Amino acid sequence: MTFKRNILVTGGAGFIGSHVVRLFVNKYPDYRIINVDNLTYAGNLANLKDIEKYQNYIFIKADICDFERMCDIVSQYDVDGIIHLAAESHVDRSIKDPFTFARTNVMGTLALLQAAKLYWESRPERYEGKRFYHISTDEVYGALELTNPEGTESPFTTKASSTLHHAYGTEFFLETTKYNPHSPYSASKASSDHFVRAYHDTYGMPTIVTNCSNNYGPYQFPEKLIPLFINNIRLRKALPVYGKGENVRDWLYVEDHARAIDLIFHKGTTAETYNIGGFNEWKNIDIIRVIIKTVDRLLGNPEGFSDNLITYVTDRAGHDLRYAIDSRKLQSELGWEPSLQFEEGIEKTVRWYLDNQEWMEQITSGEYERYYQEMYHNR
Ligand code: NAD
Ligand code: TYD
Repeated sequence: MTFKRNILVTGGAGFIGSHVVRLFVNKYPDYRIINVDNLTYAGNLANLKDIEKYQNYIFIKADICDFERMCDIVSQYDVDGIIHLAAESHVDRSIKDPFTFARTNVMGTLALLQAAKLYWESRPERYEGKRFYHISTDEVYGALELTNPEGTESPFTTKASSTLHHAYGTEFFLETTKYNPHSPYSASKASSDHFVRAYHDTYGMPTIVTNCSNNYGPYQFPEKLIPLFINNIRLRKALPVYGKGENVRDWLYVEDHARAIDLIFHKGTTAETYNIGGFNEWKNIDIIRVIIKTVDRLLGNPEGFSDNLITYVTDRAGHDLRYAIDSRKLQSELGWEPSLQFEEGIEKTVRWYLDNQEWMEQITSGEYERYYQEMYHNR
């Protein structure tokens, strides 16, 4: 069987990657989707159980830092598009082990870029019809001021905004905002973004970079705030709130990110950067209260039942105060609109984790439980 396109997705067994793979495999039966993932603690093939037997899907267990292997895969499958999501992605882990982040996020991205360059430059059509799409984060821009601590009416909204429409400051991250990363995670992502742009500027590789805000939804590894807290409430375990819980994050439903990736991969302008976000800012303590309320309601607990699980713990080192993405360029140039309002998205998410306890138990047993206990007790 010949395919119209051969698209390599890296990190497809992770949280966002699995949604991207699922979307592409279903929506484009004439594309072959090659998922390369080395299944770190965050990679889980159970995330793709529903599509694993599809004819247009291939999984390859490989490390993106293995340059020879990346060269072999890109040429063997005649790859013409790369959507690069593989990364170490958790800030707390990056504080403990920055080398792993530099290795995967910087050196891994470089290995992939160089493998694509060698193969594409060896073809008669060279870069014609090719695309290297790098998925990055808003965290590379650093942190914004929290000038409206109570939250005021946001000047911008999308369908993803909560009914509150709050903004906690007057500034937003734009595509032109200067990079100013603070954590080893964001420093490694910033560095990889620079390499991607350098491959465009130096070799003419058709690259695109997008910077998205915090994602939430099904299949997120339960070391991140939302799945961790849903699971802890269910198990009546403490909810470790860093500092005073006043840091602000901008939350987007993961399927809306995947839809943006699809649109930008096909219609985005080469060498451009697009911010992705839904103007949906939340103070941590407020989103935590929404999660508690939703879980209690769905479990049939009386209102306020799990409030006493909130436990204030030592703040994260270098904890960025506020992230808020301005995604108007993506909306106006490519017509992207999120599909879910926050209240719908969070309800869907909580239900998913409560209905998929087997998935949760499979990853929270053994090694991860030991890691989590150590992290928690060392705070
Ligand atoms: P994740 O940690 O859930 O998944 C990462 C995946 O990459 C895992 O499947 C893992 O096995 C794989 N991987 C890690 N190292 C690898 C290596 N050396 N070789 C091959 N595969 C490897 O991460 P996520 O939350 O799905 O994030 C995906 C991408 O999106 C990352 O690049 C991240 O920086 C970016 N991003 C994430 C968010 C978010 O809120 N989660 C927001 C914006 C951008
Ligand atoms: P996280 O999900 O780790 O995403 P990121 O650090 O990439 O934004 O954390 C989201 C916010 O929640 C962040 O401000 C840190 C905070 N947080 C807690 O208060 N307690 C926790 O146990 C975790 C994991 C995060």
